Amino acid sequence: MKTVVFSGIQPSAQVPHLGNYLGALRQWVDLQNKNQCYYCVVDLHAITVPQPKQALTEATYASYALLLSIGIDTKLSKLFVQSQVPEHTELAWLLNCYTSVGQLSRMTQYKEKSEKQKNFISAGLYDYPVLMAADILLYDTDQVPVGEDQIQHIELARDIAERFNHQYGPVFKLPKGLLLKETARIMSLQQPDQKMSKSDPNQNATIFLLDSPDIVAKKIGSAVTDSQTEIRFDQSRPGLYNLLSIYRALKPQPLAEIEKHFEGRGYKELKKELAELIVDLLKPIQKRYQTFVNDKAELKKLMKAQAEQIRPVVGKKVSEVKEKIGLVI
Ligand code: TRP
Repeated sequence: MKTVVFSGIQPSAQVPHLGNYLGALRQWVDLQNKNQCYYCVVDLHAITVPQPKQALTEATYASYALLLSIGIDTKLSKLFVQSQVPEHTELAWLLNCYTSVGQLSRMTQYKEKSEKQKNFISAGLYDYPVLMAADILLYDTDQVPVGEDQIQHIELARDIAERFNHQYGPVFKLPKGLLLKETARIMSLQQPDQKMSKSDPNQNATIFLLDSPDIVAKKIGSAVTDSQTEIRFDQSRPGLYNLLSIYRALKPQPLAEIEKHFEGRGYKELKKELAELIVDLLKPIQKRYQTFVNDKAELKKLMKAQAEQIRPVVGKKVSEVKEKIGLVI
């Protein structure tokens, strides 16, 4: 039996950036070879905060197309849209009744996100971690690749599963978070002491996966470095260190080899080579993306087909849960 991997990404009109890719999405692709992976565009999580209608639809297509473009392969994995598999919401309701309000109130992300909502805090925002637990528990998931900020939610999913199993017997597998190893902790190109972020107001700080070759060259060209000349992995020179880390993430090799490669050469050459590496990575992704996103009908067909393949499997899980509780099924 293969290890089951589940992860979710919120649909976003904002294209993922290089940091998202190297820190997380690239590993989603790698995980496909040895595991049974389920990757989900979690549109129902997105609507816990207000979403303009058209933007939500577009973002769902865009995110789905982008995941295909980076190499999520529906022959190896399941790639689907959360709202098209209604068992997620059905299980979420059931699990709600085995989740304490006290525990939900302690969720850090809820506290942070609800503070940002000025007029209206939806019950969905509060309940979000239970939906996430349902996502994970439906598939007998072993591993959940996520960033640090989601670990608390995974622990909650385990707690809910344990509480349920304690009462009714072993129904749910206890999932583990797979903390994405930040081999490449990609920093802002303009303020290299801060993480690369999609919402950075400085246009030149962040490389997005759909940036054109010219833009990539311009952004890398204007990346902050320092007034020294020697090219070395030196943490006290964060701008240079970041560029070298990106280089190494794209072309893995020992640090010393990279330093040797750039011996006697300057920042300009480093930046030129780095920009080329990034463009080589992005070009095929962008080409595939354009093909996918220009054929929404085809995308929709694929989404639906994936959801239909999943539903019988998760339907069984929901029935088992209902039966345990004593609902007449
Ligand atoms: N909450 C996650 C995020 O915002 C997305 C998510 C939803 C998810 N369901 C999931 C991640 C299940 C892993 C497993 O990033």
